[in-house]
Amino acid sequence: MIYERRPEDMTRVTTPELAEAFIAEQVEALREQIGEKKVLLALSGGVDSSVVAALLIRAVGRQLVCVHVNHGLLRKGEPEQVIQVFRNEMDANLIYVDASDRFLEKLAGVTDPERKRMIIGGEFIEVFAEEARKLDGIEFLAQGTIWPDILESERGIKAHHNAGGLPEDMKFELVEPVKILFKDEVRAVGKALGLPDSMVYRQPFPGPGLGVRCPGAITRDRLEAVRESDAILREEFAKAGLEGKVWQYFTIVPDFKTTGVKDGKRAFEWPAVIRAVNTRDAMTATVEPIPFDLMNRIVDRITHEVPGINRVLYDYTPKPTGTIEWE
Ligand code: XMP
Repeated sequence: MIYERRPEDMTRVTTPELAEAFIAEQVEALREQIGEKKVLLALSGGVDSSVVAALLIRAVGRQLVCVHVNHGLLRKGEPEQVIQVFRNEMDANLIYVDASDRFLEKLAGVTDPERKRMIIGGEFIEVFAEEARKLDGIEFLAQGTIWPDILESERGIKAHHNAGGLPEDMKFELVEPVKILFKDEVRAVGKALGLPDSMVYRQPFPGPGLGVRCPGAITRDRLEAVRESDAILREEFAKAGLEGKVWQYFTIVPDFKTTGVKDGKRAFEWPAVIRAVNTRDAMTATVEPIPFDLMNRIVDRITHEVPGINRVLYDYTPKPTGTIEWE
């Protein structure tokens, strides 16, 4: 059965058994809705789209066409993980588009944060639409809409981020199999579908990706410094048992340099800024008190392993007055 709204009396999907029951019901409903036709999905590798992909693969197999657009602003290892999990392990019909050059060319020299976001969002839709046009016989568009998205758009808090965006002439019937679920329920379903923990319990990651963590005009070398320092931070947090405990943590590399010294020589390089916050709903946030010895290890690794970084700073600002992201 396809629900338009979350039933008032619906039991929260918190256990593997409840997740299996939800999956069985949805698989049946999806098969009935889709029949022999084809479904298209923009697969970012985020929790919601990954769970939708896994659910549709279970229901209709290779009738689902997943498009993973790499905009060049993903975290280290992300596109590889999408290919590994979906193409290699789940035998998905996956189209991988490396559009990094195209995005970075469009973004070259652009410093205004809102313009950067517009360019990234607009280009994403363009690349996705181009891929969709190459395909024949697609009748459905799957989306990772979840229940809070619907509630927030109804309450006028934010536009439903999944809705629309494609050119007028591209009309598909929507398939939104997790739209009555809360985030924790989507994770429970993802786990039951066999997705790896690193995907199911991923920290939030903004659509414009590392682009908003590279303040000012994005350059390839600074973007690489953000990617590498972020990977080190994630690795050290995981080793220290903080993965899944701290709500969101990442690095930012601002576009100014300071004087430092490396190997006895002057090193005029960027600082990397660490952000690590806890929050309930992302409207306000507090700073995680990172233990001093862990911080020392992180500073040591980032300054020695990441080209172009000679200092590490910690952003101690709660939200408000800072936002979580820097742009
Ligand atoms: P801020 O910076 O507004 O971030 O305090 C709150 C939360 O939202 C995430 N964020 C985004 N997520 N698209 C997204 O999907 C975006 O454009 C975007 N901007 C911020 C941010 O990472 C944090 O979790």
